[in-house]
Order: sequence, then C-alpha cells, then structure tokens
Amino acid sequence: MKFMRQVVASCVCIGSLTMGAVAYAASSAKDLVLNGDAVCTTCHDEGDNADLLAIGKTKHGTRADSRTPTCTSCHGTSLEHRDFSGSGKPPKPDVTYGAKTMTTADARNGACQSCHAKDGKHNQWEGSIHQARDVTCAACHKVHVSKDAVRDKRTQTETCFSCHKEQRAQASKPSHHPVLEGKMGCSDCHNVHGSAGPSLMKRNSVVETCYTCHMEKRGPFVHNHQPVNEDCSNCHNPHGTTAEALLKSRPPFLCNSCHTPHGPIQPTLANGTAPALTAPGWWNPSVVTQGKSCVSCHAQIHGSSNPGAAGQHLFR
Ligand code: HEC
Ligand code: HEC
Ligand code: HEC
Ligand code: HEC
Ligand code: HEC
Ligand code: HEC
Ligand code: HEC
Ligand code: HEC
Ligand code: HEC
Ligand code: HEC
Repeated sequence: MKFMRQVVASCVCIGSLTMGAVAYAASSAKDLVLNGDAVCTTCHDEGDNADLLAIGKTKHGTRADSRTPTCTSCHGTSLEHRDFSGSGKPPKPDVTYGAKTMTTADARNGACQSCHAKDGKHNQWEGSIHQARDVTCAACHKVHVSKDAVRDKRTQTETCFSCHKEQRAQASKPSHHPVLEGKMGCSDCHNVHGSAGPSLMKRNSVVETCYTCHMEKRGPFVHNHQPVNEDCSNCHNPHGTTAEALLKSRPPFLCNSCHTPHGPIQPTLANGTAPALTAPGWWNPSVVTQGKSCVSCHAQIHGSSNPGAAGQHLFR
C-alpha cells in the first residue's frame, strides 16, 4: 500500500516540490489519511515531511467521524497555493502556523475554534490571558504528530516552561508538587484555555482548586483561619519553595507577616487546667525560633473544631 502510494506520489508531486512546475492532479490521486486530503497530499506526504501524515493516527484522523477536519479545515482552501503551476515557490496557503507565518494569531486560532469554540472546557478562551497575549493553540498543540506532548502530564511541562521560566526554576526547589516527576501536570491546577477564576485556575478560586485533591482542608471547621479560607497562596507557593511544605517562608516569619508575635502565654485549657509554662512542649524561649515554631502550639493551622477560648482555636 505504502509503496504503491509512494510511486504515485513521486510521479505527481515530489517533482513539483523540487521543481515547482507540476500542477495539482487530484483526479488520479487517493486520500491518504483524512477524507479529502488528496488535494494536498499529492504533494505533501511523508517524503515531504516525515511527521505530516501522523495526523491520521490522532483523533483528527478518525475518518468515520464526520466532525473531523481535512487539511483545508485548518489551512484554508488555499486555491492559489494548491493549483500553482508556475516556476519557483507557490504562494503561501491561506493559513500557516510556522515560525515565519504571516497569518494573524486570531486567524490561526479561528481555524481551530471553528470547531472547538463550544467545547465545554474552552468556552472561556476569548478574553483569557493567553488569547489576549496572542498565544496560539498551535503554540501548545502539535497536531501533525501521533502524540501531542502538551496533553501528556509527563511531557507537558516542557511546553509551558518554554515561556514560563520562573515556574521552571520553582519546580525544582526542595519542596514542590510532583510535577517534574510526571505525576501531576500544570493542567491539574490550571485551565490554560481560560477560566472564571484567578490565574487561570481550573476551578473558580484557588481554594476550590486545591480542595479537589486536599479535601481535608475544606473542613467544615468550627474555627476557621481566615487566610486559609481566602487563598492558600497567602502562605503556600504551589510551584515550589525552599521552605518545607511549600511555605513561602518559615514560621515565625510567615506568621509574623500578619501577626504581632506574643510572648509567653499560659493557656487555660478546655478542662479548666493551666499547664505550667515550663512544662515540656509549652513555652520556652526556643519554641518560637526552632522546629515548628508557632505551629508547635497552633498546630491546626488550617482550621479546627477544638473547643476552647479564642486564640486556642487553632490549637493542637
Ligand atoms: C502542487 C504541489 C502542492 C500542492 C497540491 C499543495 N502544496 Fe503545499 N506546498 C507546496 C510547496 C512546493 C511548498 C513549499 C513552499 C515554500 O517552501 O515556500 C508547500 C508548502 C506548504 C505549507 C508550509 C507553508 C509555510 O510557509 O509554512 C503548508 C502548510 C502547505 N503547503 C499546505 C498545503 C495544503 C493544506 C494543501 C492542500 C490544500 C497544499 N499545501 C497543496 C506544494 C504543494
Ligand atoms: C487540525 C488542524 C490541521 C489539519 C487537519 C492539518 N494541519 Fe497541517 N498544520 C497544522 C498546524 C497547527 C501546523 C504547525 C505544525 C504543527 O502544529 O504540527 C501545520 C503544519 C503543516 C505543514 C508545515 C510543516 C512544517 O514542518 O513546516 C504542512 C506542509 C501541512 N501542515 C500540511 C497539511 C496537510 C497536507 C494536511 C492534510 C493531510 C494538514 N496539514 C492537515 C494544522 C493542521
Ligand atoms: C473541522 C473541525 C476541527 C478543526 C478545524 C479542528 N479540530 Fe481539533 N478536533 C476535532 C474533533 C471532531 C476532535 C475529536 C473530539 C472528540 O473525540 O471528542 C478534535 C480533537 C482535538 C484535540 C484532542 C485530541 C485527543 O486526542 O483527544 C485537540 C488537542 C485538538 N482537536 C486541537 C485542535 C487544534 C489545535 C486545531 C487547530 C490547529 C484543531 N483542533 C482544529 C475537530 C476539529
Ligand atoms: C498554553 C497552552 C495551550 C494553549 C494555548 C491551548 N491549549 Fe488546548 N490543551 C492544553 C493542555 C495542557 C491540554 C490538556 C488539558 C488537561 O489535561 O486537562 C489541552 C487540551 C485540549 C483539548 C482536548 C480536550 C480537553 O479540553 O482536554 C482540545 C480539543 C484543545 N486543547 C484545543 C485547543 C484549542 C482549540 C486551542 C486554541 C483556541 C487551545 N487548545 C489552546 C494546552 C493548550
Ligand atoms: C508561547 C508562550 C506560552 C506558552 C507555551 C505557555 N504560556 Fe502561559 N502565558 C504566556 C503569556 C505571554 C502569559 C501572560 C502573562 C505573562 O507574561 O507571564 C501567560 C500567562 C499564564 C498564566 C497566568 C495567568 C494569570 O492570570 O496571571 C498561567 C497560569 C499560564 N500562563 C500557564 C501556562 C501553562 C500551564 C502552560 C503550558 C500548558 C503555558 N502557560 C504555556 C505565554 C505562554
Ligand atoms: C498545585 C497547583 C498548581 C500547579 C500544579 C501549577 N500551578 Fe501555576 N499557579 C497556581 C496558583 C494557585 C497560582 C496563583 C498564585 C498566586 O496568585 O500567587 C498560580 C500561578 C501561576 C502563574 C502566574 C504567576 C504570576 O506570578 O502571576 C503562572 C505563569 C503559572 N502558575 C504557571 C504554571 C506552570 C507552567 C505550571 C506547571 C509547571 C504550574 N503553574 C503548575 C497553582 C498551580
Ligand atoms: C491534582 C491533585 C492536587 C492538587 C489540585 C493540589 N495538590 Fe497539593 N499535593 C498533591 C500531591 C500529590 C502532593 C504530594 C504528596 C506527597 O508527596 O506525599 C501534594 C502536596 C502538597 C503540600 C505538601 C507539600 C509537602 O512538602 O509536605 C502542600 C502544602 C500542598 N500540596 C498545597 C496545595 C495547594 C495550596 C494547592 C492549590 C493551589 C494544591 N496543593 C493543589 C496533589 C495536589
Ligand atoms: C496561614 C498560612 C496557611 C494557609 C493560608 C494555608 N496553609 Fe497549608 N500549611 C501551613 C503551614 C504552617 C503548614 C505546615 C504545617 C506543619 O508543619 O505541621 C501547612 C501545611 C500544609 C500541607 C501539608 C501538611 C498537611 O497538613 O497536610 C498541605 C497539604 C496544606 N498545607 C494545604 C493547604 C491548602 C489546600 C490551603 C488552602 C485551602 C492551605 N494549606 C492554606 C500554613 C497555611
Ligand atoms: C495572610 C495573613 C496571615 C498569616 C500569614 C497568618 N495569619 Fe493567623 N490570622 C490571620 C487573620 C486575618 C486572623 C483572624 C484575626 C481575627 O479574627 O481577629 C488570624 C487568626 C489567627 C489566630 C487566632 C485564631 C482564634 O482562635 O481566634 C491564630 C492563633 C493564628 N492566626 C495563628 C497563626 C499562625 C501560627 C500563623 C503562621 C503559621 C498565621 N496565623 C499566619 C491572618 C494571618
Ligand atoms: C507555647 C505555645 C505557643 C506558641 C509557640 C505560640 N503561641 Fe500563639 N498562643 C498560644 C496560646 C496559649 C494562646 C491563647 C492565649 C489565650 O488563651 O488567650 C495563643 C494565642 C495566639 C493568637 C491569638 C491572640 C489573640 O489575641 O487572640 C495569635 C494570633 C497567636 N497566638 C499567634 C502566634 C504566633 C504568630 C506564634 C509564633 C510567633 C505563636 N502564636 C506561638 C500559645 C502559643
């Protein structure tokens, strides 16, 4: 099969690619991978570009599905290009995607959106930061390869890091989500096609996004810690940090950015007793500067249902 095709192809087209003299000859040509692709594949086959026909192995190549595209759905009818019979290079196709393309970002995205605009996860694309900054669909998606790297968590980051250098640096800090390890992708937290939440969050807020995996932090708690309910990134940098547990800085510094540090306090516990300040684990000068610092007492930092007086609500 392949051999036969190549024979046909080499008569009709390889000649045209090298000499630019032979015109399009669809009548005798068969489609190779997409319905109606013969108008293009008479000239463009694996001899032209090793990857080009791999599109037939992707969802776009499901020929039984009438919604799937043909070459011209993405590149335009390109009549002048297709039917060129002069010498030299043919005029460009209507829509091209290469580095030197003259096609506007809107027109390139428009070709994809003619089919994808109504996909549920993509209907916030218009006005999203990537759209506004002319980041095109094809800047992330490779459609002529059998495996599109950006949609595989194990290979996705390379695409993102090519533009987002800061996140690349953060991802390899000592404390990080297992993204470089390939167990999570950027797309576990971000919907890069646009979102109603801040920073392209997958859900409507940072906390809702984090709760999808860290359910226990949602509560409900009798006593909440206000900054936790507001935004996890008040204290955590989800991309990676030098401090443990993805903390932006260690306690007491982290806590003291919002609180005035207090000195020794003798607590009154729920049962009415008051442990001596010198009792093990209670106040001593080093407790605030060492180990878990503030969190050695205020251990339920994300919220708790402990009974007790104000101030002890986030207690161990
Ligand atoms: C007669 C042969 C011929 C036919 C038929 C043909 N092309 Fe081409 N195509 C070429 C040649 C030759 C080039 C290289 C032009 C150049 O180097 O500028 C090319 C280049 C291209 C490029 C790359 C342009 C760029 O600058 O990035 C695309 C995309 C393309 N063709 C798409 C198509 C599509 C889609 C069809 C069908 C509608 C088609 N071609 C039909 C000969 C053909
Ligand atoms: C779903 C949209 C889509 C379809 C369908 C499609 N292309 Fe493409 N084409 C692209 C994009 C996007 C690029 C840019 C490279 C990439 O993303 O892989 C491209 C690149 C190309 C190039 C330039 C390759 C290079 O390395 O410079 C040629 C030639 C081409 N396509 C021809 C075709 C032909 C022939 C068909 C039909 C068999 C076709 N395309 C079908 C979207 C499409
Ligand atoms: C003519 C309609 C059409 C056009 C144009 C089109 N697509 Fe698609 N695309 C589809 C269909 C249909 C599917 C399969 C959807 C499904 O199975 O639910 C698909 C699937 C996809 C997928 C998912 C593939 C998978 O394996 O799940 C990606 C990514 C995609 N398209 C990107 C693009 C990009 C990027 C462009 C523009 C360069 C584009 N599409 C242009 C119709 C189109
Ligand atoms: C910034 C990179 C980026 C851009 C720009 C981008 N995509 Fe995607 N796309 C992705 C990633 C990552 C996924 C996988 C999402 C996941 O795993 O949840 C994806 C998934 C898809 C899918 C598969 C269905 C789905 O939602 O999971 C389609 C279809 C698709 N994109 C089409 C498009 C179209 C059309 C455009 C342009 C309007 C576009 N994409 C722009 C990165 C991008
Ligand atoms: C072609 C370059 C490019 C690629 C590839 C790219 N981005 Fe972006 N991204 C941008 C630009 C430009 C902005 C605008 C803000 C800026 O300049 O940093 C942006 C902004 C963002 C934002 C911030 C949104 C906000 O509201 O502040 C997030 C999150 C993001 N991108 C995630 C991703 C992810 C995840 C990927 C990979 C799937 C990705 N990007 C791939 C260029 C890119
Ligand atoms: C665990 C969830 C999570 C993962 C995984 C994640 N992000 Fe983020 N990202 C966030 C949150 C939350 C914010 C908002 C942080 C803030 O406002 O300080 C954000 C913000 C951003 C921003 C905007 C930064 C700015 O300064 O405005 C970019 C760009 C970004 N992320 C890119 C990426 C890339 C690229 C990846 C994959 C390597 C990734 N993110 C993985 C949660 C995540
Ligand atoms: C897709 C699931 C997922 C999402 C969404 C998610 N995480 Fe995680 N998180 C993980 C996994 C997996 C680990 C690693 C657990 C391990 O290594 O044992 C983790 C670990 C953590 C840790 C502990 C790190 C350590 O070193 O102890 C913190 C803090 C954290 N995540 C905060 C967040 C925040 C904040 C968000 C929202 C911006 C978030 N996570 C969103 C899956 C997720
Ligand atoms: C007020 C600061 C603060 C905020 C806001 C905050 N955290 Fe934390 N988080 C911490 C501290 C401090 C630790 C370390 C606790 C320890 O060392 O015992 C921690 C640890 C964690 C851990 C790892 C240990 C564990 O308890 O499972 C996860 C997961 C986590 N936080 C998720 C979240 C999520 C999700 C949010 C948002 C809903 C959030 N955090 C908001 C301060 C905060
Ligand atoms: C982003 C600012 C911010 C950070 C960082 C922060 N807090 Fe808070 N914290 C608050 C706010 C706001 C309240 C509610 C104050 C009020 O109700 O008067 C609060 C309340 C508390 C309370 C009193 C709870 C109660 O029962 O009334 C304790 C204890 C506490 N924080 C401990 C900590 C510790 C320990 C850290 C460091 C791990 C920390 N906080 C980090 C903003 C912050
Ligand atoms: C040895 C245990 C211990 C350590 C360590 C500790 N605290 Fe406390 N903290 C307490 C007790 C006990 C109370 C409650 C006092 C009371 O019952 O009125 C309290 C109360 C608070 C309150 C509430 C104050 C109020 O007026 O309601 C805040 C805020 C707070 N601590 C922040 C911190 C911060 C920030 C650190 C670290 C710099 C820290 N704590 C370290 C024991 C501790």
